[in-house]
Amino acid sequence: MTKLLYEGKAKKVFATDKPDHVVQYFKDDATAFNAQKRGTIVDKGVVNNKVASRLFQLLEEQGVQTHFIEQLSDREMLAKKVAIVPIEVVVRNIVAGSLAKRLGLKEGEKIEPVLVEFYYKDDALGDPLITEEHVRLMKLATPSVVEDIKKQARRVNEVLVPFFKERNMVLVDFKLEFGIHHNKLILADEISPDTCRIWDAKTGDVMDKDRFRKDMGKIEEAYQEVLKRVCG
Ligand code: TMP
Ligand code: ASP
Repeated sequence: MTKLLYEGKAKKVFATDKPDHVVQYFKDDATAFNAQKRGTIVDKGVVNNKVASRLFQLLEEQGVQTHFIEQLSDREMLAKKVAIVPIEVVVRNIVAGSLAKRLGLKEGEKIEPVLVEFYYKDDALGDPLITEEHVRLMKLATPSVVEDIKKQARRVNEVLVPFFKERNMVLVDFKLEFGIHHNKLILADEISPDTCRIWDAKTGDVMDKDRFRKDMGKIEEAYQEVLKRVCG
């Protein structure tokens, strides 16, 4: 029996026989608006595991250290065990989502230079937007870790934007989580259609979780198409 260490909204994390390693199991459960909206996206877990595995592999090849070790099965990823830094790091190339809503900016406008935002990872508070000074106040990360996070987040963007572009997709924005492993900051969690905004480069069609958030239909089809373009 493997021990369940943690269950989140979209994943379960299990212990392995190595204290340093965990298995991330990707579920089909989907939530939005801090779990006020719930549903199932058939085979989402398979898509997200495969897409995240491919993207972590790519990032490793490009010198970004991640928790990824190997894809074990359709829904399982072997990863390094980390202590998650409780900050959701959002990188934005194009105005959309909460940025458009909060500041009244026009959706679809290019952001130059890219915007890196921090949100406090706390479901009870609804993951509020925070500044670096709040990070310091709450001791969520040291100033040098904050610098490292920003540098790595921008590097991830530099690697992923052209990768998606070559596959006829626009990487609008995405969310990253980092963790500490043996005193080193590494990229953790997942990068998938759940955690990115991806638009078709030609038609502008939404290919990510916004289809679920906004009840746009053809959710499974969009996830399968991302899988095909990323891994196919
Ligand atoms: P936002 O525009 O709603 O702030 O979302 C920015 C990006 O972060 C978008 O690509 C979706 C992703 N995201 C998550 O991965 N988890 C979340 O809980 C939220 C709110 C957004
Ligand atoms: N995953 C988040 C939740 O349910 C929200 C989102 O992705 O929109 O709470």
